[in-house]
Amino acid sequence: MTVLRVVVLTGSGISAESGIPTFRGSEGLWRSFSPEELATPEAFKRDPTLVWEWYLWRKSLIAHAEPNEGHNALVKLENRLGDDFFLITQNVDGLHQKAGSRRLLELHGNIWRVRCLSCSAVYCDYRTEMDKLPPSCIRCGGLVRPDVVWFGEAIDEKALEVAFRWSSSCSIFVSAGTSAVVYPAAELPYIAKRSGAKLVEINPEETPISTIADVIIREPASRGVKKLLEML
Ligand code: OAD
Repeated sequence: MTVLRVVVLTGSGISAESGIPTFRGSEGLWRSFSPEELATPEAFKRDPTLVWEWYLWRKSLIAHAEPNEGHNALVKLENRLGDDFFLITQNVDGLHQKAGSRRLLELHGNIWRVRCLSCSAVYCDYRTEMDKLPPSCIRCGGLVRPDVVWFGEAIDEKALEVAFRWSSSCSIFVSAGTSAVVYPAAELPYIAKRSGAKLVEINPEETPISTIADVIIREPASRGVKKLLEML
């Protein structure tokens, strides 16, 4: 009997129904900037205040957002499968934890954490407004940045190792609400497929992995994950 071991990779599409703009949709624009112009170390070096203003805007959207049926259905799946379930998210919004997911890896960090560029302190900062921008470290007064992974930055090696290990040892890999174009996360469905897993895609639109998917659920994540639960 094949053991059902399920890995789910989520992207910003799963949080779209909670009112948080996706990265690449036109609704993701803030002022006239796309996230790809702001979520970079270069942008932060050039204008940390501008980058922080954008993050405060995103934080205030996220602060008011609640997990949706997609997040909730993934908690049900985790409860059903226990140790044979693992969730990998590219989202930094924390909505999976808020929904109750525990077996979770946040590959791109978490927007509620900050990191000091001088003393490397990492701590939570839940403010959505700040008197002084950019903010200073509570420990040493140095410049702090959001503790998230930006374009061109490496993902924590250990986190990546965990993601690769799960992807290469699951029997079903589900890609939900991601455009599957940002590496190394975009590599995970291919690793799973090469290792013999069945690949499921949940996305209202086609993506580069649609051509190798075994099952395609062309639905928003809220309905799509519930369908997946019925299928398993
Ligand atoms: P994208 O904006 O690239 O893609 C969002 C995907 O969600 C698209 O494929 C949409 O079709 C799909 N989508 C939209 N609404 C949906 C819904 N209701 N249900 C399911 N899917 C829906 O966002 P990501 O794939 O998350 O990284 O982007 C990946 C990474 O690139 C992000 O984590 C971020 C970004 O740049 C970094 O900042 C490093």
